[in-house]
Order: sequence, then C-alpha cells, then structure tokens
Amino acid sequence: MPHIVFSKSKTLELPSQCDGVAFNFIAASYNFTQKPRKTEYKIGITHDNKEFLLTLKEKKEHQLLKADKVTRVTPVTIVKDAINAYAKATEAHIEFANTQNFSQKVEPQKEYLKEIDYFVNEFDTTKEIQIEIGFGSGRHLLHQAKENLDVQFIGLEIHTPSIEQMLKQVKIQGLTNILAVNYDARLFMEFIKSNSVSKIFVHFPVPWDKKPHRRVYSTEFINEALRILNIGGTLELRTDSRKYFDYCTDLLTHLPKGRITIDINKDLKVSSKYEDRWKKQGKHIYDVVLECQQMDEEITIDKDFNFDKELDFNYIKNNIPSKAIVEEDYVVHVEDIFEIDEKSGLIQLTLGSFNRPLTKYIKIDNGKAYYFQGNPVPSSANIHAHKKIKEILTHD
Ligand SMILES: C[S@@+](CC[C@H](N)C(=O)[O-])C[C@H]1O[C@@H](n2cnc3c(N)ncnc32)[C@H](O)[C@@H]1O
Repeated sequence: MPHIVFSKSKTLELPSQCDGVAFNFIAASYNFTQKPRKTEYKIGITHDNKEFLLTLKEKKEHQLLKADKVTRVTPVTIVKDAINAYAKATEAHIEFANTQNFSQKVEPQKEYLKEIDYFVNEFDTTKEIQIEIGFGSGRHLLHQAKENLDVQFIGLEIHTPSIEQMLKQVKIQGLTNILAVNYDARLFMEFIKSNSVSKIFVHFPVPWDKKPHRRVYSTEFINEALRILNIGGTLELRTDSRKYFDYCTDLLTHLPKGRITIDINKDLKVSSKYEDRWKKQGKHIYDVVLECQQMDEEITIDKDFNFDKELDFNYIKNNIPSKAIVEEDYVVHVEDIFEIDEKSGLIQLTLGSFNRPLTKYIKIDNGKAYYFQGNPVPSSANIHAHKKIKEILTHD
C-alpha cells in the first residue's frame, strides 16, 4: 500500500485543493476508552469522484501517511495521488516514500463478478435460476452452465482465488449464464425473491466438525432455502462427511413438512475436485435432497439506514459504550471516535452479522449523521444493528 514517512510540514489548510485532490476535513482520535494511545488523524479526501480517508500517525520523530483500511478505494493510484498531493500541499520533508512505485493497473475483466449490491438493487431475470454454494474450483458449476444454457446460474464463494479461477474458465469457455458473488451463502439468500429458484447445490461443504456454528446448513438456512425455492425446487447436499450428512438429515427430518431423498455413492455426470479426492481414498459419498412443496410470501427488504434525529457529537463521545454489543442476530462494536470539531466527527464501528461483520464510519456533520461512503448492505443483521446504533447514539 502506498505510504510516505515525513518530517517538518506546514499545517494543511482546510478545506483546500491540490493537484485535483480535495482535502475536506481532518479528525483527531478521541480517547474514549481511556486507554493511553498516540493521537491518530483521519483526513477526509475527495479525488476522482471518490470519497475516502487517509491515516496520519506519529512515528517516532516522524509522521506516517497512508490509506485508511476501512475506506480503501480502487485503483490504488487514487490513494497514491492523494498522498503525493498532501506532501506537496504541506511542503513535507519526505524521508521515505513508495508512492512512485504504483502504476495504473488494468483491472481484470469482471463482467460476471457482481457485488452484493447488484443483487439487492438490480438483479432481475425471467430465466430459471440455479445457485451453487461454495463452488470451489467451479467444475460442477461450469459443467451445469454449459449443459443448461437457458438457466441463469449464481455461484457463491468466499475464497477469492477460486472465484478468479472460475471466472477465467467462464471467459475461456465463452459462457454468459454464470454470475459469481463473493459473499457468505448464509447471508445471501435474503436478497433473493421468494419462489424464484429451481435448484440450490451445496457440494462438499466444509464440515466444521469442531465449529458447527460455521456450517452452511442450519435451520435458518434451510428455511431461507425453502422460501426462495419454487414448488418442486431442490436443495441438494453432496458430502463425504458422514457426520455432516447425519447432522443435515436430522435438521431436514425435523421440518414440519417436506420430502427428502437420500442416496449413497450416486454417480453424477461431473465429479468435483473434492469428490475425486474422496473417491480415491475410497470414501462414501452421501446425497440428501430436499424438495420444496410450498409457496411462500414475498418479503420486502427494509433499506432504512437514516438517522431521524440530529445527533449530539459531544454527548456521543462521552457516553458511547466501548464494549461490544452481541445479540442473537447482530453485533455492534464502537471501535474508535475521531473528532473534527465540537459538533462533528467520525465514529468507527463494526456492525451486522456475527459471521460477516462490517466496519463502517458514521460521519456527524454539525448534528447530521450518515454512513460515510454510503449505507451498509440492507441485510436483516445490518438493519437490526442500525436500530441499535441509533439507540446508543441518541439521548432525549
Ligand atoms: C471443500 S470446498 C468444496 C468446493 C467444491 N464444491 C467442490 O466440490 O470441489 C468448500 C468451498 O466452500 C466455500 N465456502 C465455505 N463456506 C462458505 C460460505 N459460507 N459461503 C460461500 N462459500 C463458502 C469454501 O471457500 C470452499 O471453496
């Protein structure tokens, strides 16, 4: 990441501009946890129509300026330009810089890689939809997509190299019916319309024998799968793990209504990378398929991340809890506070689902509060967390 170490500099005028980079504000860390710490600053930047922060820290007798991790933007050259502009505007005496080493990188073609926001706001199709969860090398997903060109496939994966590898194959094979998303499958389905999916494949999920809470299958997951499946649609588990098979079968047989089919060592037209490995070791392969037999009501997604009232930054910085709030369906943890002036500042917090928490800043501008760089994804966990955040930031 680009950064500079410097000594002696002029004070930055605010707001100001240099080489097309706008310096909007500077916020100093506020010691709200009472633990001793060195002051750290966040500098608010707008460059190339993107808003982000730079971090300024004391480093022995020097100062270090680098990208703020939470608000990082791409391409990295935007950050590099902002750091260089800061050094120029403040006439900094540079001791070390790596900001000349970053060149404009050509972003790989990502036509078929979608952000979660796309599924929240835009995704709509009249085609049949099938989803594969944890597609890994993508062998099964690519095979299905090639065999069923009229079906729209959605591939969910949390391992970036696997996604890149699969998308390379999409390009090589000229496929146009797969959309990949880097998102936790357990949280994804709540953005999909009810009764709209015909198959959900979960092939060789990580069994997590020692950490069952990390498993993809749970009662909530099965119920969400049933909501998005159309009548006759199937949720298909294939696994080499007897324990995982037993665990899932137990969950499925406790459903109030449903039809399940169980198979052992069933042959499929395509064998995934993991399947090959387990077969070579002589392991059994178990299939358990749940068929959906019910129609479900459409759900509406609550997208309200507003702060209805004016907020008192002075009250917040002295009263906000520093301990994490962990509830059954969300977490909220205030990590840091940065003060711009008496009435304005930044609150850095972790929020949302326990499995995939998100770090964001809330900016308070003379009492008006909003999420810096835009609202969180409107997952139910984030919406619940937001309600809690409003509660802890407000006083009557
Ligand atoms: C054991 S591999 C199996 C890969 C592939 N299905 C196969 O059969 O070769 C499990 C895959 O699931 C992915 N995964 C694990 N948890 C996930 C989750 N919550 N959401 C999406 N993908 C997940 C992992 O990154 C991994 O690639």
